[in-house]
Amino acid sequence: MAGVTPSPGGSVTVVAPPKVNLRLLVGPRGDDGYHPLVTLMVALEGPADRVTVSRATARAVRCPGIPGPANLAWAALDALQAEVARPLPTLAVDIEKGLPAQAGVGGGSSDAAATLVAADRLLGLGLGHERLERAAAAVGSDVPFFIRGGAQWARGRGEVLEPTTAPAFECVIVVPGQGLSTTEVYRAFDTLPHPPPDDHVPVPAHARGLATWCRNDLWPAARSLQPTLADLHEALTAAGAAPALLCGSGSAICAIAPDAVSADAIAVAAPAMSPGCRVLRARFPGV
Ligand code: C5P
Repeated sequence: MAGVTPSPGGSVTVVAPPKVNLRLLVGPRGDDGYHPLVTLMVALEGPADRVTVSRATARAVRCPGIPGPANLAWAALDALQAEVARPLPTLAVDIEKGLPAQAGVGGGSSDAAATLVAADRLLGLGLGHERLERAAAAVGSDVPFFIRGGAQWARGRGEVLEPTTAPAFECVIVVPGQGLSTTEVYRAFDTLPHPPPDDHVPVPAHARGLATWCRNDLWPAARSLQPTLADLHEALTAAGAAPALLCGSGSAICAIAPDAVSADAIAVAAPAMSPGCRVLRARFPGV
């Protein structure tokens, strides 16, 4: 994970980026309640959260909107403790939010991964990727991805990772005023017809190939729960998005653009497409 900054005051700050799933293939729900996934996730540059971990006399997670034990950063501290199997010094986590919640860009998962990385660095545990990813998997399906970043195929629940190449692209993430619950989107998915099988087309080498390659099997479910998403998708496509793609389980839509000038134009037009939306300009540098 990039952007680890130690401070002289005895704290470590880590930048927590968002992700987008360029491909999200979802299988039928398993006996454990989870759906088997094949997904290509990429970590985006641009908007981000900042997570600072410091020593404290009482555990605290300070985060606008989701403070305390409900925040995945709290579960990350528990998972770190379980991974090292001995008591650790008490820590506090401060999260500056630049990312939206319930948007499908993985903000909460990214904060949890950043908490693990920052705490590992602050306490000098030297856990390394494998052990950090194991702790991350105990927190949530997307959390191990954020330990690695870059571009990864993720399988299983989303926690079995394999690095891949992916083309550079510019994008605009449009976040509607109303979010979506991941659990509810998967529940709606269960009531709809199964998506077509994987066509195994290789990852395109250039961004223009993404227009036809990207796929998100949760799109019909998200659209059924929030029908206005179809209008936003249509408006972004008309404005030049190639493609417009639901972020994870939504409700944000990522407009991938052929170049930075087109992305800037989409970002200017986007606020009128969805009342009360937030517009985030982001990019993937390619790997
Ligand atoms: O793992 P995480 O807590 O992020 O998942 C949130 C919810 O999303 C789960 O409770 C489950 O309902 C759903 N989910 C799923 N299949 C996955 C990942 C998540 O059904 N592979």
